[in-house]
Amino acid sequence: MLSGGLPYIGHAIEFYRDQESFFRRGYHKHGKVFGIKLLGQPMAILIGPEEQSFFFKSTDKELSMEKPYQFLAAMFGRIAFLGSHETYKLHRPVLHSLFTRDQMARYLPVMSQVVNEWLERLGDSGEIELTDEMTHIVKEVAGRCFLGDEVHRRLEAEGFWAQYDALSASLDPLLYNLPLPKFKRRDAAREKIRAILQPLIEERRKQPVDDGFQYLLEQPDGAGVPLPDEVIANFFAALMFAGHETTAGQAAWSIIHLANNAAHRTRVQEEVQSVVGDSAEINHVHMREIKQITAAVQETGRLRPSAETLIREVKEDITLDGYRIPAGWFVMTSTAAAHFIPEYFANPHAYDPARFTERNEGRGFELITFGGGLHKCTGMNFARTEMSIIMALLFRKYELELVTPYEQIGVNRGGSSKPTPTRVRYKLRH
Ligand code: HEM
Repeated sequence: MLSGGLPYIGHAIEFYRDQESFFRRGYHKHGKVFGIKLLGQPMAILIGPEEQSFFFKSTDKELSMEKPYQFLAAMFGRIAFLGSHETYKLHRPVLHSLFTRDQMARYLPVMSQVVNEWLERLGDSGEIELTDEMTHIVKEVAGRCFLGDEVHRRLEAEGFWAQYDALSASLDPLLYNLPLPKFKRRDAAREKIRAILQPLIEERRKQPVDDGFQYLLEQPDGAGVPLPDEVIANFFAALMFAGHETTAGQAAWSIIHLANNAAHRTRVQEEVQSVVGDSAEINHVHMREIKQITAAVQETGRLRPSAETLIREVKEDITLDGYRIPAGWFVMTSTAAAHFIPEYFANPHAYDPARFTERNEGRGFELITFGGGLHKCTGMNFARTEMSIIMALLFRKYELELVTPYEQIGVNRGGSSKPTPTRVRYKLRH
C-alpha cells in the first residue's frame, strides 16, 4: 500500500492533483504493483508490460468494466462495454460493424473532404486557436461519416453537439452520483440527446439511408435481433463521445509537437510530398506509406494519451507478481506512468517519433494509448486515419508556428488530455 493515504478519502487528493506524479511516486517506491485507496475503494495499480498484458488479456468474468465505468453508464446507460459481459457479447458485433474495412473505405474520402474544406476556409495565411479548430473538425468528420452532411447539419442546429460540453465536464469516476450542478447538467444533456435522436431513428425506419447510423438500426446483435430504439440512441451518443474529445485532443497535440519540432516536420513534409503529391484525397495506399506521420501520431499518443487511467473490478481473487489482489478491489493501469518507463522508452520525456520508425519501441503492451485485448479501442483505425489525414494535408499546405509558447501549453483536465487554448500562425508553403 502506497504511503500518504488519509482516513476515508485515501489518496484522492494526490490522485486528483496530478495523476502522473502520483503514479510515478508509487512506481519508484514499490515497483510494478502497488495498492492505493480512493474514497474507500482499494485499488491495485499495475504498471509495466507484463502487468498491463495481464490487465488486458483477462476476461470480463475475471476483470470487469461494469462497476468502474458506472460514471459513463450514467450518461449512456448499460450498453456494450458499459454493461455486463452478456450485454457486451450481444452488442459487440454492432459496435464493430461500424468500423469494418468496407466502412473505413467509405469514411476515408469524407475525412479528406472535410479537412480540405477547412484548409480552403483558412486561406493563405492567418492565426487560429488550434484546440477549438480540432474539436470542430473532429465533430464534422464524425457527423458526416456516420450521418451524412444534411443530417449532421440538422442535428447540429438542433443542439446535438452542444450537449457534449456538459457531458465532458461531468467526467468523474468517483463523485458521479452526487447531486452536484455539473451532474444535473449531464442528465439534462443526456435527455436532450435522446430527444434529438429519437425522431431520426423513426425517420430512418420509414426511409432507410445507406450510412453508419443505419447500420446501428439494422445490424443484428449477437442474438440475431436488431437493437431497441433507446439502445441505438445511447450507442450512437456513446460512440460520438468516445471518439470526439479524444481524437480532437490528440490531433491538436500532434500538430503542436510537429510545429515545435523542425527536424521531424521536415521529414513529414518530404514524405507527404513524395507519397501524396498533389492528390486532394489521402487514400488507403497513401495511408500505408506515410510512416513518418504514423510515427508522429503514435508518439503523441504516447506522450499525451487521452485516456490516462483504465480501470477494472476484480471479480475473483487474482495473484500477480506474488501479490494476492482480492475480489472487490479495482485494478488500474495508467498510460501516464506506463509510457514513461525508461527501460521501454529511451529518454521517455523527449518527443522522438524515430523510436517507432527506427528503434522498434512500444511493440507490445508497453504502449497502451488505445488499450488492448478484447476491449481495445474500436475506433482506433478511424481516429488514427483521421489524425494522419489532418496532419498530412495541413503540413503539405502550410508552414506552422506556435504563437503560444510550447512551455505554456498545458493539459485541459477534463478526462481527455486536450491541450489548453493554443494559438498557431500559418502561411502557405512555397
Ligand atoms: C485518439 C483517439 C482515441 C483514443 C486515444 C481512444 C482510447 C481508447 C482506450 C484507451 C480504450 C480502452 C478502454 C479500456 O480498456 O478501459 C478505448 C475504447 C473504446 N473506444 Fe476509443 N479512443 C479514441 C478514439 C475513438 C473513436 C474515434 C471511437 C469511435 C468513434 C472510439 C470508440 C471506442 C469504443 C467503442 C471503445 C470500447 C471498446 C470495447 O470495450 O470493446 N474511440 N478507446
